[in-house]
Amino acid sequence: MGKRAFLIVHAFFVLFSFGSSKAEMVSAVYVFGDSLVDVGNNNYLTLSIAKANHRHYGVDFPTHKPTGRFSNGKNAADFVAEKLGFPTSPPYLSLITSKANKNNASFMDGVSFASAGAGIFDGTDERYRQSIPLRKQMDYYSIVHEEMTREVRGAAGLQKHLSKSIFVVVIGSNDIFGYFESSDLRKKSTPQQYVDSMAFSLKVQLQRLYDHGARKFEIAGVGTLGCCPDFRLKNKTECFIEANYMAVKYNEGLQSMLKEWQSENGGIIYSYFDTFAAINDLIQTPASYGFSEVKVPVVDWVS
Ligand SMILES: *[C@@H]1O[C@H](CO)[C@@H](O)[C@H](O)[C@H]1NC(C)=O
Ligand SMILES: *[C@@H]1O[C@H](CO)[C@@H](O)[C@H](O)[C@H]1NC(C)=O
Repeated sequence: MGKRAFLIVHAFFVLFSFGSSKAEMVSAVYVFGDSLVDVGNNNYLTLSIAKANHRHYGVDFPTHKPTGRFSNGKNAADFVAEKLGFPTSPPYLSLITSKANKNNASFMDGVSFASAGAGIFDGTDERYRQSIPLRKQMDYYSIVHEEMTREVRGAAGLQKHLSKSIFVVVIGSNDIFGYFESSDLRKKSTPQQYVDSMAFSLKVQLQRLYDHGARKFEIAGVGTLGCCPDFRLKNKTECFIEANYMAVKYNEGLQSMLKEWQSENGGIIYSYFDTFAAINDLIQTPASYGFSEVKVPVVDWVS
């Protein structure tokens, strides 16, 4: 989701922030999701074609080099970490590689499981050949949880650490893109049924996080997906209404699911990030964000 993500990312990180007073209470940041928050996992997936390892990715990053982020510069994961006073949580696949090399990397300092192309459902990644769907990101987190239990020599100490950690979850766009790309999916369910089952499946995965100690969550809705370049190309640069409608419906379902989920489990604190409103504001008033063009995908491969 290269180009699509590119558009979404900017407004997302500008508005995605925490109060600084929270920072002192936070012990680490664990990140789950798709290309909006991938900080390099996909570079370790040999089969994946969703890799931000070439120009112009990273041009505005401090190193000016591609970093595996689907962005010209820092992404939402970087800004969340920065606001909390932490370095960005490193990609899980980089950590296990360095652990194999006997480096002293600790999962206690935060981990990113995010992977471009990932969806709430398995299989959104077919288009990109390989990614780490949310279910598998949670599987990896269970492994990490086991290892951290050993590292801190006990469940109680780990629980203290985890209940003060922030769990960031940014996912769902690829599932909705997938719906429009698959006539099978469209035959099987109406848009409303599909987004309802997205919210339900996400709840199952969030519960796994809760059952493994997570208590504080930052959960993002999806943006104005119908205004992504791919869709605009099909409608004379105007937005594709049906995809935006689905995004709105999913976000509604997500918000009621989160309330319900919170009421069913003790001790959950979450904040919902309204990505749709943020991106919509950017599209309506691009100049105030420093953008001059938000409709026409500009392909500029001049070196
Ligand atoms: C690894 O780092 C942790 C803290 O970052 C420290 O507590 C531990 O002793 C270190 N282990 C080794 C083998 O250096
Ligand atoms: C294309 O854009 C126009 C103008 O915003 C809108 O009225 C129309 O519904 C769009 N078409 C589709 C298929 O979304």
